Amino acid sequence: MDQATSVTELRQYVQRWRNRGQSIAFIPTMGNLHAGHLSLIEKGQSLCDRSICSIFVNPMQFGPNEDWDHYPRTLERDLELLEGTGCDLAYMPTASELYPDGLDRISKVHVTDLTDDYEGKHRPGHFTGVATVVLKLFNIVKPDISVFGRKDFQQYRVIGKMVEDFNLDVQIVGQETTREASGLATSSRNQYLDPEQLALAPLIYRTLQDAARQIDEGERNYAVIERRAIARLDGASFETDYFCVCNAETLKPALPDDRDLVILVTAALGATRLLDNIEISLW
Ligand code: PAF
Repeated sequence: MDQATSVTELRQYVQRWRNRGQSIAFIPTMGNLHAGHLSLIEKGQSLCDRSICSIFVNPMQFGPNEDWDHYPRTLERDLELLEGTGCDLAYMPTASELYPDGLDRISKVHVTDLTDDYEGKHRPGHFTGVATVVLKLFNIVKPDISVFGRKDFQQYRVIGKMVEDFNLDVQIVGQETTREASGLATSSRNQYLDPEQLALAPLIYRTLQDAARQIDEGERNYAVIERRAIARLDGASFETDYFCVCNAETLKPALPDDRDLVILVTAALGATRLLDNIEISLW
C-alpha cells in the first residue's frame, strides 16, 4: 500500500492511475478503523480499480466541548488494517496543508435544510466541518465514487445534498451498517462502553426493529411509536436525545403518506452517545 501526506504526492498517484484509465474509489475516515470502515473500503474496491482511504481527524467538525485532542489516534494499527484490505493508498493529510490559515479564515460549506436537526442541533457547526473537509478532499482526490456508511445516515444525506447542490462529479455510495452479532451497530464509540453498557446497547437496534415492524404492519401514528420507543430506552437507563420517524429524503418528521422512511435515533449510555437508524420502504 502506498502512502501520501501532501496534496502533490497524492495527485501524482492519482494521475498515474488516471493515465492508465483506472477508476478511483475514495473513503474518507478519521482513523481508529473498525469492521465498518473496512466494509466501506471493500465496497469501493468492488466498484472501482483503485481505492484511496484518507485518515484525518478533522478539527473543524469538533465542537468546543468535544475532545478533538483525545480522539483515538491508532495510525499504526489503521495502516495494518488498510494493508489487509488491499487498499491502494492511505492519504494522511496534515492540518497545516488543509487549513493553512487556520479554521477561522477558511471559507466554509453550509449544507441547507438537512443540517438543522438531530446531530446538527446537538452539535452546532459539526456538519459545516464535515462538508468543508469532504469538499476539500473530493477536490484533492477527484474520485469517481466515494463510500459513506449509512449508519451516520444524516451525514450520508448531507454529503449527498452537497454533491447535488454543487454539481460535484462524484457518485456517493451508501454502505449498509455493519453490526455486531448482538445487533449493535459497529462504531468507534463502542470501545467506551463498560461491560454492563455493552450488554444494554443492543436494545437500541431491537427498539428500531420493533418500531419498523409496527410501521410495516400499518401503524401511522408515528408520535405514538416514538413515545413508546423513547420510554423503553429511557426505562432501560439510556438518555434518548431523539428517536424520530423521518422522511428518508428530507429528514423531516414523516407524514402518513411518505413511503421512504428512516428512523433516526441517538441515545446515550453514560457519557457515550450511540447513533443508529433503520430504513423502511413502504412501496
Ligand atoms: O464520518 C467520518 O469519519 C467523518 O465525518 C468524515 C466523513 C471522515 C469527515 O471528517
